Amino acid sequence: MKTRALAAGLWGLLAIILLSACGAPAETGEGVSDDSLITVGFSQVGAESDWRTSCTNSVMEAFSEENGFNLIFSDAQQKQENQIKAVRDFISQDVDYIIIDPITESGWDQSLKEASDAGIPVILVDRAVDADESLYTAAIGSDFELEGKKACAYLKAYLDKMSYKGEVNIVDIQGTIGASATIGRSKAFDDAAKKYGWNVLAQETGEFTQAKGQEVMESILKRHDNVNVVYCENDNEAFGVRDAIESAGKKVGNNIEKGEIILLSFDTTRAGLTETLNGTILVNTECNPLYGERLASMVKTLEEGGTLEKHTYIDEDQYSANELVKSVTVDGKTYPVTILTQEILDERPY
Ligand code: AHR
Repeated sequence: MKTRALAAGLWGLLAIILLSACGAPAETGEGVSDDSLITVGFSQVGAESDWRTSCTNSVMEAFSEENGFNLIFSDAQQKQENQIKAVRDFISQDVDYIIIDPITESGWDQSLKEASDAGIPVILVDRAVDADESLYTAAIGSDFELEGKKACAYLKAYLDKMSYKGEVNIVDIQGTIGASATIGRSKAFDDAAKKYGWNVLAQETGEFTQAKGQEVMESILKRHDNVNVVYCENDNEAFGVRDAIESAGKKVGNNIEKGEIILLSFDTTRAGLTETLNGTILVNTECNPLYGERLASMVKTLEEGGTLEKHTYIDEDQYSANELVKSVTVDGKTYPVTILTQEILDERPY
């Protein structure tokens, strides 16, 4: 809360004391009065994927009035100009905090400077920005390049375990161009393809949506009849890619020797893990969207005068129903692969 809200709170307290002294009952209604709520403006990317919906729900749940917040939610519909406008609106509404999930990595300096000049702390969530870090208070998100490295390490280990000696004719269906999620996952893909000699047939954006994922895969399959691995940069794209492959009369699956097309995916949403358990997706690398409680606790820490880590990466897992590869090693560190079961899927929170 800023000075204005604090002053209102003090006046409210004084009024209650005076009323109590006069014999009138003190206000004890459920919930808290509006003036005591912490106002938070949240600029969300859009509603492009199942992951995004889970992220939005998680934030809305954590920033409820019962928890002491007044959340102003703004859906940018995947357009950065909408986010920049939302941030200006939050500033003119004099919110207490601003949370941004930045669609793209660049183009944030001016907007962050405006929030900083207005004295409003900004927390970045999920994706990153390339702006000067003095312009925001803290950032919490995924290490997207690590996610990509884990996915590529899995593929390499899987093919080695299969003793596969043929060509790896691979396609990368990228996420939104310019998003840090895409930049990190695509970089890991490019590096691995170079290192392992994979033959990259195409690298195009599926914009993190099922429809676009399907559309680009259909067009790629018309140009290339030898695709045997698709690196999908999120679950919704993987669903679209699966549909495109099946409508082209080809088979998705893990037996590359028999002409099946291997799918790799990211997010590990319930729907994505369902396709992982049934073998449609060979390996699904987690990108956890449940930021609500973490963000609410960060805001509460600031509210109490505490400080936050500048950058926090969350821990993420990797899942496969195939038991051949039980761990992957990236940059000298070993990460376990969880062998997916129905029980694990049933307990999945998103
Ligand atoms: O920024 C996180 C990515 O964005 C998720 O992988 C994807 O599903 C979402 O749309």
